[in-house]
Formats: sequence, structure tokens, C-alpha cells
Amino acid sequence: MKRLIDMVAAGESLTENQWEELIAGQTEELSAYAAERAKNLREQIYGKQVFTRGLIEFTNYCKNDCLYCGIRRSNGNANRYRLTEEQILDCCRQGYELGFRTFVLQGGEDGYYTDERMVSIIRKIKEGYPECALTLSVGEKEKESYQRFFEAGADRYLLRHETAEEAHYETLHPKELSLKHRMKCLWDLKEIGYQVGCGFMVGSPGQTAKTLAKDMKFIEALQPDMVGIGPFVPHHDTPFAKEKGGTVNQTLYLLSLLRLLKPNLLLPATTALGTIDPRGREKGMLAGANVVMPNLSPTNVRKKYELYDNKICTGDEAAECRNCLNNRMQSIGYELVVDRGDPQKDKR
Ligand code: 5AD
Ligand code: FES
Repeated sequence: MKRLIDMVAAGESLTENQWEELIAGQTEELSAYAAERAKNLREQIYGKQVFTRGLIEFTNYCKNDCLYCGIRRSNGNANRYRLTEEQILDCCRQGYELGFRTFVLQGGEDGYYTDERMVSIIRKIKEGYPECALTLSVGEKEKESYQRFFEAGADRYLLRHETAEEAHYETLHPKELSLKHRMKCLWDLKEIGYQVGCGFMVGSPGQTAKTLAKDMKFIEALQPDMVGIGPFVPHHDTPFAKEKGGTVNQTLYLLSLLRLLKPNLLLPATTALGTIDPRGREKGMLAGANVVMPNLSPTNVRKKYELYDNKICTGDEAAECRNCLNNRMQSIGYELVVDRGDPQKDKR
């Protein structure tokens, strides 16, 4: 099996069956081997630097009803909120002072934020912070909307594909959503010129080594700049409340394999990983990740953006999280940098 890891590390393409074998065959020894190689590659390209993105969760209204997600429309217990343009700009101001040079506007699919409103927010952020990158994460839109946001100044777009297998996709989502459209969105975004991020949850109900193998093949085809993966964590007010969550070990193994698949990827150690393991984000870095995305949202709304149970940092100020992450990264010999954090050239 190490042979397969060596092949990936050498830039050779694995078949779907080989990926399946590699993923299903995870052992402690294999994970350690993959992590070591991934960490070396990561350090060749990004050194010991850790890129940060300031996450602004600006609305938890959502018209969708994804079965895993705590802010799905049929969760009547979700306490809904929207941030005003002013509040969003306040988050940026505070974030900028703390050293963030990328802002991520993330929200549910909320019709209140029309294209006009989004364009206005994007323009104001880019006017106020021209040397910062702006990432959007607001779901599926028409290509024309993506184009307008891009022209208004958005640089990057995050849209996890969630799973690359159609049957699996359908068990995670209501019938009005389709994998086909999801993928079309990602290709549209790429064509427009965004830096694009896809991704998936690790251990989502129904996920297998086979579906994960398809994720790897999809990522190989799409060639995204970023891939966001984190463990699935059940939310008590969703149909998946009683399902098993994803594991730390599988998440770390997949982070390593992704680093080997595409050495210059921007790969976050996610909040979900930090939620299921107190040192999850540090472990993520040592397995090949190079990005962290702490929260810049006002503390009074933090708890309300609850995609899954027990989410960390819901009571902490942005400055506290920046500090906390600084210390955590220093504890493993890494350092947070004040930088947009763009993808570097692939040095393989
Ligand atoms: N556990 C972990 N991740 C989740 N997401 C949504 N719900 C959950 C959950 N219960 C992830 C999805 C989505 C991203 C914003 O958060 O992958 O794309
Ligand atoms: Fe938020 Fe540690 S990152 S408190």
C-alpha cells in the first residue's frame, strides 16, 4: 500500500479502484507514512507558515434543507439572524487590525442578500481593504451572479461538493438539489476566474471508501485551489442527529492524501476538526494542512451559526481566537502569517 502513496507523491494518477484500496486500507502505520510525506511537501512549498482567513458568518437563514446541517430551513429551533452591511464591515475592520488579509463571507442560501446587496458589500470590502482577498461561500447561484460578484471584486469561492457520488449526494440532500448542478457551479466558478475551493465532510452517513475514491478523482479533475474537509458532526435538530460522526484519524489521513494529490493545495485544518479533538487543528497541520479559518463574527451571533453540535469558539472574541491559534501553531513550530495566502507554485 505504501507503493500507492509513493505513486501519488510522485504525481502519478491513481485509478478509482486504487484510491478505494488506499482509503479502505488505512492503518496507523500507513497514516504516519502519508502524514510524514505530506508534511514534507507542505513545508517545501509553504514552509512553516500558516495562512489565516477571517470567517464572517453573516446569515444563518437558508432556503435549503440539507439533512446534515443545523441551519436547514426545517429546523424551527434555529435562532435566525442576519448581519447588516455595517456589521460586516466592522468585522473586517477588526479582522484587519488583528492581521487577517483574507475575509470569507459565509452564509446560508438567503434570498435577502440579492445580487445587488452582495455586490454592494463586496465593493465596500474591496474599497476599504484593497490588499485583502475576499472569499465568498454563499452556495449555488446562476453563473451570471457569480460573474457579477467576481467583477465587483470577489477573488475566491468556496463551495464544498459534499460527495462526488450521485446516489450518496441524494441521501444527504433534499430532492431539489443535485450533484450535477453543484458540479456545474464549481466549473462555472473556475471558468470565471475565481480561486475555487470544493470539499466534503469525512464520515458523513453513507460515505464509503468508494465514494471517497470518487471525491479524489473529482478533485483531480477539477484541480481546485482549496479543498475544505472536516469530520461530519451530528446536529441534534437534524434527521442525522443519531448518526455516527466522522473520526479524527480518517480526517487526518485524507488531509495527507489530498496534500500528496495536489502539493500546493490550500488545505484548512477546520473548526469541525478542532471540535472533535482539542488538538485537532494542530494535528491537521502536522498531517499536511496549511490554513486555519477562525471566526470574526460578532460574539452575540456566534452560537447561532450552529451547523453541528458543540462547535468551538462560540464564546470567544476574534482577538482571543487569533491569539489562541498563534499559540497553538507555535506549539508545533509553525507560525500564523499576515498575508493574503494565495496558492504557491507546485514544486513537485
Ligand atoms: N458536520 C460537519 N460539517 C457540516 N457542514 C454542514 N453541516 C455539518 C455537520 N453537521 C459543512 C458542509 C458545508 C460547510 C459549510 O459545513 O460541508 O459545506
Ligand atoms: Fe477560538 Fe482557540 S481558536 S478560542
